[in-house]
Amino acid sequence: MSEIKSIGVVGAGQMGRGIAQVAAMSGYNVLVFDISEEGLKFGLDFITKQLKRGVDKGKWDESFVGEVEGRLSGITDMSVLKDCDLLIEAATENKKIKFEIFKQLDEVAKDGAILATNTSSISITEIAAVTKRPESVAGMHFMNPVPVMKLVETITGLETSKETIDTVEAVSEKMGKTVVRADDVAGFAVNRILMPMINEAFYTLFEGVADAKGIDNAMKLGCNQPMGPFELADFIGLDTCLAIMEVLHEGLGDTKYRPCPLLKKYVTAGRFGRKVGKGVYEY
Ligand code: CAA
Repeated sequence: MSEIKSIGVVGAGQMGRGIAQVAAMSGYNVLVFDISEEGLKFGLDFITKQLKRGVDKGKWDESFVGEVEGRLSGITDMSVLKDCDLLIEAATENKKIKFEIFKQLDEVAKDGAILATNTSSISITEIAAVTKRPESVAGMHFMNPVPVMKLVETITGLETSKETIDTVEAVSEKMGKTVVRADDVAGFAVNRILMPMINEAFYTLFEGVADAKGIDNAMKLGCNQPMGPFELADFIGLDTCLAIMEVLHEGLGDTKYRPCPLLKKYVTAGRFGRKVGKGVYEY
């Protein structure tokens, strides 16, 4: 297994900032890269707020926050990632963007560095194929909010080496997570199950079976889910939900995965969920 001391996180958005926070809290030196200065600042400020909130709640003390912040830096120049042992990509769920990033990371990363992706559904084998080191590419799928959710779904591509997947799983465990390994099939395990449920909630609304609040209450109060499917979809992002359904539909080729027209309509209208203040609900 490779020894991992420093981690580079690509993307300071909802997932990237959570991964960076937990990695730094687990003792790793972390570089967070984002192409946007503004996005980077927002992500780092969010982490600072979360760390301070932990102090207020008595979860840890100021000196721990100082140590964590000392291990965390933000960058907008990708070449600085060259010394990292592990790179975790957490950019937008879009094939073209991810392929481009992996080509660049492959150029920048040192020999022997592992390239992991937080993709929620895109094929690891395909992502690995754009690099010259497919044996060192693996899926490392965190759940949102990363500091709270205990799971990391790890995914092996066709060429992923045992050393790579063992290392990624050891890092996940050091970050306090429980690992479930999934094969590289569209949606892996989590989204193969979660997204059709959310999509079905949209069909249930579309067909007028119940209203949005009613459907959320049905699943919260009737099935003990912490969030109803629409609250969760708004939290994940409707654009991300649609992108994952499209990957399932294309990858598995079964009409049962066709995205609901109502979900498509919300995304077309720019109602992406909480992050834009408007999704199924308004915030
Ligand atoms: N970042 C960091 N911490 C957060 C947070 C955030 N965005 N939101 C909440 N928390 C923390 C709070 O600080 C609090 O911590 P403590 O208990 O240590 O004080 C804890 O979470 C509970 O928070 P709240 O009491 O404010 O709220 P809650 O009890 O309603 O829980 C929730 C919020 C944890 C988000 C809960 O509603 C939940 O578990 N929802 C389901 C989330 C889920 O299913 N996530 C997976 C989505 S799928 C995915 O991510 C993968 C994909 O590919 C799409």
